[in-house]
Amino acid sequence: MKKSSCWPKLLSSSPLLLVTGGAGFIGSNFIRYTLARRPLWRILNLDALTYAGNLANFDDLSAQDRERHRFIHGDIRDLACLRRLFEQDEISAVIHFAAESHVDRSILGPEAFVDTNVLGTFRLLEAARAYWEGKGRPAAFRFLHVSTDEVYGSLGPQGRFCEDSPYDPSSPYSASKASSDHFVRAYFRTYGLPTIITNCSNNYGPYQFPEKLIPLMIMNIIEKKPLPVYGDGQNIRDWLYVLDHCQALLSVLEAGTPGETYNIGGGAERSNINIVHKLCDLLDSRLGRSGADSSYHLIRFVPDRPGHDRRYAIDSSKIQRELGWRPEHDFEHALAATVDWYLQHLDWVEAVRSGEYRRWISLNYQKRDEWCRGGEAPG
Ligand code: NAD
Ligand code: DAU
Repeated sequence: MKKSSCWPKLLSSSPLLLVTGGAGFIGSNFIRYTLARRPLWRILNLDALTYAGNLANFDDLSAQDRERHRFIHGDIRDLACLRRLFEQDEISAVIHFAAESHVDRSILGPEAFVDTNVLGTFRLLEAARAYWEGKGRPAAFRFLHVSTDEVYGSLGPQGRFCEDSPYDPSSPYSASKASSDHFVRAYFRTYGLPTIITNCSNNYGPYQFPEKLIPLMIMNIIEKKPLPVYGDGQNIRDWLYVLDHCQALLSVLEAGTPGETYNIGGGAERSNINIVHKLCDLLDSRLGRSGADSSYHLIRFVPDRPGHDRRYAIDSSKIQRELGWRPEHDFEHALAATVDWYLQHLDWVEAVRSGEYRRWISLNYQKRDEWCRGGEAPG
């Protein structure tokens, strides 16, 4: 049975959201989406502006929306900064996106993942708990933790992850997200802090940092660079358009039940090689390439990601049944729209591809060349 949006009615004033990691891919889409649909809501955006966070993601905010969005440059590991934030403002909910989010980076440098994803989440929970207890434990407060389907590990050809699938993370990234989920759940059970967890599948869409599969391949095709497909290219992901994810998060915030977990998936399972072929087709038709010039010639199978999960698929029947959410965007159309967005925003890509980005690309893919030449892949 669909629940109505009860949360805003519990509040005495219009909601003030503390969004962490709001300058990243999903966070910035969520802020833009929410400001446009909830004209009375205000947002504090706390972000450390790591390589993945970019204020250029807000260049297109309208003047009215800008007034309801305040950016704070700060780190979720900094407890003093968090306490100041909670002391200054009447915060209605925390939406926690801030994280180190790239699996390959977690393989070559796991410590930052423990630091931000585990310790940072713990500090944020502590600051939120102190604030919530100080206010007399208001029932309307929410702490929404945005997590991933990767905590459940890898699937074989059959089955889908549901909310009670056992945790079985494979990478330092997913292990750190699993750990943060456990802390969030423990804060509900131990202290009663009204937390909710969402576990979501692979997002794609505008403003995604070009280290992830879809934007990396789009840019490499445009620039006629090799398209590095890990392993046999048959790993499967369940793709979700980022605005469908944003709508799901709003539904969970407004009508979800504290202590619960909601799985969010796009219902669009595709193998990696299928995605790369589609991107080649879409861009070849837009760039007028064919025959010997076709982008298919750029595809290179490279050594696999160590610990590479074979398949993810989400059973999102709980959020569909209880909150009435379902993905609205068709995969083929939304992928084409994403390609067009990147073609129209090459200046954005250029601005976010810093020296750090170039160092990362050469480290990650050069390592694969070394493994290819006979060295052992880690793991
Ligand atoms: P992203 O890497 O694009 O953005 C992360 C943001 O967090 C950046 O703006 C960065 O500056 C900020 N950040 C990092 N460390 C910080 C710190 N210590 N303090 C404050 N800010 C910090 O990530 P994304 O793809 O937008 O993912 C957002 C969240 O959603 C993450 O928690 C991720 O685990 C989760 N998630 C992502 C996907 C996906 O497909 N991208 C799917 C499921 C869940
Ligand atoms: O499932 C949700 C997760 O999706 C999120 O929790 C993560 O934050 C997000 O980064 C994403 O993780 P993945 O590892 O699935 O995404 P990525 O884009 O890195 O890779 C998608 C698939 O493509 C994966 O099977 C690895 C493969 N791949 C990736 C890159 C970067 C390649 O074959 N070549 C590449 O160069």
